Amino acid sequence: MSSISPADCFVDVCPLDVLPLGMGRAFVIEGRSVALFHRRGGAVFAVDNACPHKGGPLAEGMLAEGRVVCPMHARRYDGITGECDQPGVCSVRVHSVTIANGIVRVGIRGDGQDSEGVG
Ligand code: FES
Repeated sequence: MSSISPADCFVDVCPLDVLPLGMGRAFVIEGRSVALFHRRGGAVFAVDNACPHKGGPLAEGMLAEGRVVCPMHARRYDGITGECDQPGVCSVRVHSVTIANGIVRVGIRGDGQDSEGVG
């Protein structure tokens, strides 16, 4: 789970059981396309759906050891930190996730900060 910032605005997204294990699914949350991933161990993480490299749909990527593999050029992004496997090259914005009463809630940052790097 990503760290929770006081600036995050949490939104109910979906029941946990509609997220397929080991796969991603895209949602529009507060006007932002976000990819949610449900790891086989039970954790859920959320990243922006658009790959910072050339906009590939990360929700369609595979999960590999907690990393999202972009379906377009196979860059890998850590689901917790958003860091790319190519240091200093790029990162994807991550969003906080909580699960309460079986409902997945995602925190969309309200502070205007953007952790996206340069693709
Ligand atoms: S668009 Fe994702 S790695 Fe190129």
